[in-house]
Amino acid sequence: MAQTGREHWATRFGFIMAAAGSAVGLGNIWRFPYLTGANGGGAFIVIYIGCVVLVGLSIMIAEFAVGRRTQLAAVGAYKSQSRKWTFAGVLGVLSAFFIMGFYPVVGGWAMAYIVKSFTGLLSAPDAIGDAFGAFIGDPLQPIIWMLVYMAIHIVIVGRGVSKGIELAGKILMPLLYVLLIIVAVKGFTFPGSGKGLSYLFVPDWSAVTGKTFLAALGQAFFSLSLGMGCMITYGSYINKRERLPGNALIVVSMDTSVALLAGVALFPALFAFGMKPAAGPGLVFVVVPKLFAHMGGIGVFFSAIFFISLFIAALTSSVSLLEVCVAYLMDEKKWNRKTATNATILVMVVLCILSSLSLGTISGVKLFGVGFFDFFDILTDKIFLAIGGMLLAIFVGWFNKKEDLKDELTNGGTVQFKLFELWYAVVKYVIPILIGLVAFFGIASIEQRSLMLFGLFIIAALAAVSKKL
Ligand code: TRP
Repeated sequence: MAQTGREHWATRFGFIMAAAGSAVGLGNIWRFPYLTGANGGGAFIVIYIGCVVLVGLSIMIAEFAVGRRTQLAAVGAYKSQSRKWTFAGVLGVLSAFFIMGFYPVVGGWAMAYIVKSFTGLLSAPDAIGDAFGAFIGDPLQPIIWMLVYMAIHIVIVGRGVSKGIELAGKILMPLLYVLLIIVAVKGFTFPGSGKGLSYLFVPDWSAVTGKTFLAALGQAFFSLSLGMGCMITYGSYINKRERLPGNALIVVSMDTSVALLAGVALFPALFAFGMKPAAGPGLVFVVVPKLFAHMGGIGVFFSAIFFISLFIAALTSSVSLLEVCVAYLMDEKKWNRKTATNATILVMVVLCILSSLSLGTISGVKLFGVGFFDFFDILTDKIFLAIGGMLLAIFVGWFNKKEDLKDELTNGGTVQFKLFELWYAVVKYVIPILIGLVAFFGIASIEQRSLMLFGLFIIAALAAVSKKL
């Protein structure tokens, strides 16, 4: 099944930047801080880091190995083993579609806030919170921004792997890091900001339940772009000479440091402004403009650059999500890149319109007790990704030959992977059991139980028809 002439990343730096570009995104800067706030602060962060180290890193190594070994995107990689496994890959494609049913909406908000930085948003700091609520609930404005956001993808993904994605990642990622540091430094200058740091780094275990673990696990998968074949697909483009574990470690470290930096940047200012930690999805869109509003003219400029880099971070991530769907249609259904890209984007746009409207105009329409936006978010992050990761671990641990894995991870024995045995045991035994437990107790303690069960039902249904997919 291996294809000849598959495109590969032109350089190692380009690959790392593209993989880190996929990982670092709204998940780190928009989602991680507000989830931390909603789940009690320090304790959530400790559990999150545990999930990243124990589960995330091993799964990323596994996804890279599967991708590079098969030289196929997610679905093909599973299918080349046995058609019974096709569903696990298709589940990933479905996750990508659903994530892209709300992600571009938030990407559009980031773009809108670039412009809003210049058009007076910062001149009335006290109105910034209400302005955000009014904006996302508007029937038209956020949809227009989402459409602009999606239009950019047609250009990037349409140009192919090494040119489009690599270029975008390389130029724009480092800027984000610098900006978060500026925000963090400015945040510390406000009186009362110290409370934000203790909120982040002094765990309060009393708030921890099964839900907290599920949220942390889901966020680890989401933030690292795991559990849906994205890194399998990227792995299939990695040069045979690269060391996979080392590259995975770099990507995981970059991703986690950006998330923590975002927390450190936002929480001190949030406490100084007397806002609630559980401010929700508006957190970054309210705290950052408020903070820069205190800086006068230069603040406008900084605010704009911040949202430009947030937009770029989002872009490199959603490009990778789109690429999963496009690669599936190209590899498995033999569509050409252009048709696959356009058709995929069209479906995503429809889902995004529903998501955006669900925050205002059609907020009364509920699926399993939640609006469209939350529906796509919860279904993917709390169930599909974690189960996708579990399936991958089972696939690798129990259905791949150990020698083949060792061969792939040591580049045919030419380089060392000292922790191979540990990694193998974690993937084979620890991860499937751990995810099973977290999912079970998470579902037992969460309000949206019927939605979770619906998610499991979809997975079971896909598995049942796997051979036809
Ligand atoms: N990791 C990205 C973020 O944090 C989102 C993302 C990109 C993603 N590709 C993915 C999430 C694949 C899950 C799977 O913003």
